[in-house]
Amino acid sequence: MNIILLGPPGAGKGTQAKLLEERHGLKQLSTGEMLRAAVAAGTETGNRAKAIMDRGELVPDAVVVSIIADRLETPDVAKGFVLDGFPRNTSQAQALDAMLAAKALKLDSVIEIKVDDEALIERIAGRYTCANCGRGYHDKFERPKRAGVCDVCGSTAFIRRPDDNAATVRDRLDIYNKQTAPLVAYYRNRGNLRTIDGMAEIGNVTRQIEGVLNGV
Ligand code: AP5
Repeated sequence: MNIILLGPPGAGKGTQAKLLEERHGLKQLSTGEMLRAAVAAGTETGNRAKAIMDRGELVPDAVVVSIIADRLETPDVAKGFVLDGFPRNTSQAQALDAMLAAKALKLDSVIEIKVDDEALIERIAGRYTCANCGRGYHDKFERPKRAGVCDVCGSTAFIRRPDDNAATVRDRLDIYNKQTAPLVAYYRNRGNLRTIDGMAEIGNVTRQIEGVLNGV
């Protein structure tokens, strides 16, 4: 099964993509995470992307398309994948269409997660991740079971993203509305878009996604 999770920053794409990995064995393909890994590793791509990402702008299409093209070649996507943060504009969506057609793969579902802007800002401002395994948490909505200790790996080191501040988040939302939101119509016209309520609590959003996938 191949899925796109579409939604603004903080909608819960990453949270739900990781749950889909656990439940269905699908591979999460997050261009944001791959770019952050490149920044941390100090690769040429990472060094070029860092300032753009810190400003909340989009990294050039050629860079992210090539990252996804490489990932689609790897065997761990054979059971299916969840695209999280890609595509982000029409040109990336067209490039994805071409890559999938070349591999005779199809998109089973595009799930739009809808959330109000003010809730997104609160979610992003409170978000942090385990520095060791990358498990995501939130100051208010998703705390570790033992304070200061990662539920998954037991690490006590946590990090916050440099682009997770109120000013940058507003810019990221603006870019989403201008460049990514048109993809809702792009996929609706193909008949495989479903919209779910991302304002609900995490477990409820998961159940809505399961409901969509049961109909695929
Ligand atoms: P990226 O990493 O993709 O960031 P984003 O799209 O801004 O999305 P986020 O990761 O911020 O949000 P999310 O929807 O995954 O929410 P999450 O599950 O964490 O991209 C970062 C940057 O990389 C971009 O700005 C750009 O520069 C570059 N980039 C990446 N892809 C690119 C591309 N294709 N083209 C060009 N540039 C690209 O949830 C947020 C918080 O809310 C968490 O703390 C979570 O616990 C909590 N939460 C989740 N769901 C709920 C819920 N239902 N109720 C309450 N809290 C919830």
